[in-house]
Amino acid sequence: MKLEAAVELSERIKRITVSPTMLVLQEAEKYKAKGVDVVDFGPGEPDFPTPEHIKRTAIKALEENRTKYTATPGIAPLRQAICDWHAGNLGSSPAYEAAECVVTSGGKHAIFNAICCLIESGDEVLVPAPYWVSYPDIVKYAGGQPVFVQTRADDEFRLRAADVEKALTPRTRMVIVNSPCNPTGAVIPPEEFGEIFELCRHRGVWLLSDECYSHFTYGKAKPFTAASLPGTRESLIIAGSFSKTFAMTGWRMGYLLAPQPLIAAVTKLQSQSTSNATSIAQYAALEAARGPMDSVGTMLAEYARRRERILAGLRAIPGITCSAPEGAFYVFPNISAHLHADMASDTAAARQLLEREHVAVVPGEAFGAPGHVRISYATSLERIEEGLRRIARFFSNSSGQAQ
Ligand SMILES: Cc1ncc(COP(=O)(O)O)c(C=O)c1O
Repeated sequence: MKLEAAVELSERIKRITVSPTMLVLQEAEKYKAKGVDVVDFGPGEPDFPTPEHIKRTAIKALEENRTKYTATPGIAPLRQAICDWHAGNLGSSPAYEAAECVVTSGGKHAIFNAICCLIESGDEVLVPAPYWVSYPDIVKYAGGQPVFVQTRADDEFRLRAADVEKALTPRTRMVIVNSPCNPTGAVIPPEEFGEIFELCRHRGVWLLSDECYSHFTYGKAKPFTAASLPGTRESLIIAGSFSKTFAMTGWRMGYLLAPQPLIAAVTKLQSQSTSNATSIAQYAALEAARGPMDSVGTMLAEYARRRERILAGLRAIPGITCSAPEGAFYVFPNISAHLHADMASDTAAARQLLEREHVAVVPGEAFGAPGHVRISYATSLERIEEGLRRIARFFSNSSGQAQ
């Protein structure tokens, strides 16, 4: 601690905090290291292995010594394959060209770089709440100011153009959208997306669309990109990731699709920071983008089964309400009826749940939504059953005023 106090850190780094989802995972890890049987609903990553054909391609790339630096924005075939995949699987039209694509070390890196290249000190960035934990901190790191646009549980946490409009000011430079959303699973209907985009275009504001969960949608919701809407090219930025779609979180592969001058700026930033994304991982991503999509369908079918079960289980617990997520692999129940003097916040509830029942969840406060917790169902049905039993027992024993 003393040593830390002696290090004078930049004002910039002091503006941000360690990702709160990482903190919860660390806490759960401590219990696991002691041999405790933790039901871990924390992870924001698929529990499936990376598909075999992708792994095999990476092994081949290694054997062929594709272990050198590559071009900073990524190998040319991968940039083209991402554009083709995006047009074929999400319907971007006209298809992006390779020069409008930069390969990054994960989707977070893509978002970080785009914001660092565009946001000036004092710029406002609209962030729908509940939000993925990293958006506000990345905006602050760049010197901007996050402005939250509240979505509501009784409207399935959908972002509404009318609410975006109310929050726009002359200082707004960017609107971030994340559909399907982490943590709520909310999906923005295509018409609403169109209206939000039109607002942005009218005001000369960037729309940054984080499509990280694009292929995990349920019921009527379908994979969708704003880049399929007419006339979006000039003010739209797409941030994509291989992490969730292809169960490749550890490979760190993501991309941006955006107007060429922004791609050039991000490439410049990468040339002075990370350089290219890992060469072997780029070949693996090339196979993911060009190869069969069967594994995605298999994962989606399994997530759909788990989603049904966890929703039913949570809704059966007195005092808990939970809207039905249309996408991603999270549920976001409201537990506020169970809060009381000895368990006054969702963070306290998450801590007690971990201590008493060894169930790890992420407190809603981390996502700007007090009174909620995020439960990831990227774990087996058996673990979901066990977790539901423990959660039900926890809330029936907690001395709250649940009605
Ligand atoms: C909404 C959202 N965007 C982006 C990311 C970044 O993913 P990655 O950096 O692994 O590609 C995540 C990861 O959890 C996320 O939940």
